[in-house]
Amino acid sequence: MTFKEKLHTLSPMLYPILKEILFRLPPEKAHDFTLRVASLSPALGKLMGISPDPRLSVKIGNTIWPFPVGLAAGLDKNAEALAFFSAQGFGAVECGTITMRPQDGNARPRMWRYPDEKSLRNAMGFPNHGLSDIWNRLHAFERTTPLGANIGKNKESDRDQSIDELALMMASLEELVDYFVINVSSPNTPGLRAFQERTYLRELFKELNRVRGGKDLYLKIAPDLDGDKIKELCETAFDCNLTGLIATNTTIMPERGPGGMSGEMLRPRATYIRSEILSLRTTLELIGVGGVSGFSDLLKFWEEGGKVMQVYTAYIFQGPDVLHRIKRDALRFVEFIPQKSLQEFFDLKLSERQERIREFRKAYPA
Ligand SMILES: Cc1cc2nc3c(=O)[nH]c(=O)nc-3n(C[C@H](O)[C@H](O)[C@H](O)COP(=O)(O)O)c2cc1C
Repeated sequence: MTFKEKLHTLSPMLYPILKEILFRLPPEKAHDFTLRVASLSPALGKLMGISPDPRLSVKIGNTIWPFPVGLAAGLDKNAEALAFFSAQGFGAVECGTITMRPQDGNARPRMWRYPDEKSLRNAMGFPNHGLSDIWNRLHAFERTTPLGANIGKNKESDRDQSIDELALMMASLEELVDYFVINVSSPNTPGLRAFQERTYLRELFKELNRVRGGKDLYLKIAPDLDGDKIKELCETAFDCNLTGLIATNTTIMPERGPGGMSGEMLRPRATYIRSEILSLRTTLELIGVGGVSGFSDLLKFWEEGGKVMQVYTAYIFQGPDVLHRIKRDALRFVEFIPQKSLQEFFDLKLSERQERIREFRKAYPA
């Protein structure tokens, strides 16, 4: 066994040790420290991460994800550690939310941990370095994994200004990323969720469709919506030729404090929203996010017609182990079904996919 291979076998032990140290720091300090280390050492990302397996790649929109789980927005807001996160083996990495001008976000503290409930609460308010800085970083970065840019409006921008800003950001980033996400669902920019309104979105997407250059385009939605609103958003997304939706952002729980909750406490709400969207059986793609922490979340999502998901909070609590465990179970699934790859599985009709999952569950009860 080479030294490198030996290190790789030891890597599952690294994160628990690192977590012990990180969880003694205030959450945002731990986050900043992790990002600094990650930005300096992509090799560490590879060492602790998963290796690609061609049987696990999935096509979503015009993009092929080498693994069915990507990194959700907000962890690498400023695109500082993309090489590290790509090397970890995520199916896609989403940077942002990026705004046109740099902004500081809300006052600190603005991130809280709930270790017993494996959840986080944040009220960040889009702190980020702004388009110009992030453009420079993305321009210098060589993509090895699909890359998404999540973009949003500056806090002070009004309705019309926000359309101009988002279109300009998209036009300038178009050659540097594989997909775009419009974030109008953060609970931390006052009044932002009102931008999930139909007339605004139609006007916005009309402008964005002029500049998106064939790139995939998603709308990220809040979990705090009722069935009618979900239906309306799906219709709007379909009419405006979007690739699909990302569901969901964090959920408000005022009894816990300001901001939005993520992780296990978000899971029931996010799962309900995803089920509602998938039950509409549209041709829109859906990227699932919110409370995803293991293969059982993927299996449920696949059973309802979804394909790929993202993680944030489970990655904070489990580290790269979340990827290792999902990879192990996803390979067990692929080896069980008659299809040779996940993509072949997704090419089946939904009823056939459901049958394969039923058989798998019988063979491997949870
Ligand atoms: C600290 C923190 C910051 C976040 N920042 C963003 C952001 O800038 N843009 C965005 O679209 N989502 C952001 N999110 C939401 C995540 O992308 C994700 O939708 C949400 O956390 C639910 O997934 P999870 O349960 O796996 O964490 C943030 C989440 C957290 C915890």
